[in-house]
Amino acid sequence: MDIPKIELNNGVRIPCIGNGPGIVGYSPRQDRISNSLFKRAFRKFIIRPKQEYDYVDAVANSFKIGFSLLDYSSSYGDGHLIGKAIKRSGVSRNDLFITTRISNQAQREQKVRACLMSQLQGMGVDYVDMLMFHWPVTDLYIDTWKEMVQLYKEGYCKCLGVANCHKHHIEELMKAADVVPSINQFEVHPLFTQKDLIGYCWSKGIQVEAYTAIARFDDRLMRLPLLKNIAQKYHKTVVQIILRWHVQTGVIPLVRSLNKSRQLENVSIFDFELTSNEMKAIDAININSRLRYDPDNCDFSIL
Ligand SMILES: NC(=O)c1ccc[n+]([C@@H]2O[C@H](COP(=O)([O-])OP(=O)(O)OC[C@H]3O[C@@H](n4cnc5c(N)ncnc54)[C@H](OP(=O)(O)O)[C@@H]3O)[C@@H](O)[C@H]2O)c1
Repeated sequence: MDIPKIELNNGVRIPCIGNGPGIVGYSPRQDRISNSLFKRAFRKFIIRPKQEYDYVDAVANSFKIGFSLLDYSSSYGDGHLIGKAIKRSGVSRNDLFITTRISNQAQREQKVRACLMSQLQGMGVDYVDMLMFHWPVTDLYIDTWKEMVQLYKEGYCKCLGVANCHKHHIEELMKAADVVPSINQFEVHPLFTQKDLIGYCWSKGIQVEAYTAIARFDDRLMRLPLLKNIAQKYHKTVVQIILRWHVQTGVIPLVRSLNKSRQLENVSIFDFELTSNEMKAIDAININSRLRYDPDNCDFSIL
């Protein structure tokens, strides 16, 4: 499937939807499994290899079915499983748009360059398409950004972006360096539409990527009669309606699924169009409900 692309402020073209596989083996349940020696050994030698195999298989599948935009971060791992997935998929590296981020830990340890080099080595690639920082860590993100600008000038990434930035973070960045970010990635979904921040980014020529784009399958959306009725009309699922709403808004949704049939569902949103009334009705669902952290109110010593 050929996914439409959007041109960024430096001329690079990016697919209008992406897959973010996140951390291998992520499961909220796992925190509750006891930590006895036996259980830890079982996890390390039996569960973990299976999880890694499934992860590589799922990421490879996402590439094969057309998800060429991959959203990744050094906070999720060293990238070697992504490297395996690229090989397993048979898709040429040049046909992929690979994003990675500088973790907060690397910012705290002032290891920005080393962090990117380790991602490149892990993935087995010479460059990434998009390099971001994961969060604007207080007192550190300006220096991180300056170092990222240097890495961009040296050709290790095709574009630079930021994540979790409010307007005031972006204004500080633009004072500090001569490169405007191509993307700001932050939480957006119908429960938290972030219209002001999106409008500000667009006014500066910065494209927006939406993370937690389907609000982690939140019941308050999935059970909403408005969304169910629109889904029924187009013979689509509520998730597909939400993803289509992002794309028609002009925001790039990043959605996480390691399930092959749900990946196919998520990418199958280019054969229908929401009316402007439907778009407005979905906009109006907003209740400013943030599911993730607010960058101005979080503890960067642990995040
Ligand atoms: N920059 C940042 O700080 C930041 C923060 C959060 C997220 N992100 C990025 O955004 C990506 C997605 O965010 P997220 O994981 O928070 O939230 P999300 O994509 O809104 O939700 C993911 C959840 O939805 C389920 N799901 C996906 N497609 C589905 C479908 N068609 N039907 C039913 N359930 C479906 C997934 O389960 P299955 O896997 O079982 O399908 C998973 O449990 C991340 O992987 C990451 O790349 C970035």
